[in-house]
Amino acid sequence: MKSWIAWLASGALLVACAAPLEGCAGTPDEPLNLPPGSTGSGSNLPAKQFYIQKVHPAFDLTCTWCHAAAEAGQEPPGGAPQWLSLDPEQAYANIEAYEGLIAHPSNSLIILQGEHMGPALVPKQEQLVREWLLLEVKERALPDPENPSTGSGSAPAVTAEEALGQFAGCMTIENYQLTEMYLVAHQQTVGYGVCRGCHNTGWAGTFLDDDQNLTFEMNKQRPYLLKLVTAEVQDGAFVDLVQSNRFKMKGSEVCSYLEDADPANDIYCHPKFILNPDVSAAVDNFFQATYDAWKSGACSPQDGEGAGGAGGGTP
Ligand code: HEC
Ligand code: HEC
Repeated sequence: MKSWIAWLASGALLVACAAPLEGCAGTPDEPLNLPPGSTGSGSNLPAKQFYIQKVHPAFDLTCTWCHAAAEAGQEPPGGAPQWLSLDPEQAYANIEAYEGLIAHPSNSLIILQGEHMGPALVPKQEQLVREWLLLEVKERALPDPENPSTGSGSAPAVTAEEALGQFAGCMTIENYQLTEMYLVAHQQTVGYGVCRGCHNTGWAGTFLDDDQNLTFEMNKQRPYLLKLVTAEVQDGAFVDLVQSNRFKMKGSEVCSYLEDADPANDIYCHPKFILNPDVSAAVDNFFQATYDAWKSGACSPQDGEGAGGAGGGTP
């Protein structure tokens, strides 16, 4: 187990500081060195300049090493999508090309993602990202839930963040048991035991414990919820909820972390697994039952109110 931690720690620093970029933290002991943010009074910079000067350096230490290939023509490590680049101009172009990133913060996957294989944004990073995205919303006249009249086209009824909250409100423990969704926690991996052995404290934004009720409650919340469902966002507007398939895909994804095919390096990759057919069906059925309930509009939202009120079902 130590090797995972060593990998995450050493990999992050190694790759980040191999990058020929200014503002790269010098030594592993230096704290996360973020550029000063503007003070929330609004920036005069155009959105792209704000990204290049402030946001890009802030992504450097904790996001870029996975979301950008170390060299042109290579894949990013760990199968991560390449929405960044070591070069700020190219990174901006990649971000523009990746659907669902440039949007109001409540519709942007950068904000919604939270902890996953990579870490969540720290508050200082998140503040910069929010500030930048609001500049983008203004410049591009993207849907703005705070000013529904200013966005282009008709105002969307719901944001991605709200829709995910509604979906969580549609999750019921009855469906969870009926579809046997709880089985995921007990799925075997090849050589590393069952999922819950590693994920029972929520490691990597994945919460799987043998306590059914606890697992159910935790999975109603982001980032855990996103292992089941994610938002489709187009041109800054929420479109639909879709199954994210993280439980299903994780075990068979190519581990491109290291180039060489030395099996000894498998310790750097996620344990391999293929969900048993009944477990895979459980995930599909639980998603579908919840999605159908959400589509019908008959469930109470999960966000906002105290989590205790989240019985699911009808209002
Ligand atoms: C250790 C590698 C790693 C690091 C570091 C990392 N990520 Fe990721 N990220 C991934 C992988 C793998 C995926 C694809 C699987 C998934 O969606 O969780 C991903 C997916 C994403 C997505 C796309 C989600 C979607 O639905 O298309 C976003 C946005 C994202 N990460 C944001 C970030 C941010 C912000 C940071 C830095 C705070 C970060 N990541 C750091 C590995 C990483
Ligand atoms: C030996 C420990 C271990 C076991 C067992 C394990 N995992 Fe993981 N899992 C990790 C670690 C470490 C990470 C973060 C690094 C990574 O993503 O590869 C992770 C990340 C994840 C992620 C989030 C990242 C992403 O790409 O979405 C998912 C989903 C996941 N595991 C699912 C599972 C499932 C399902 C099982 C059981 C079939 C399982 N894991 C078993 C250690 C484990």
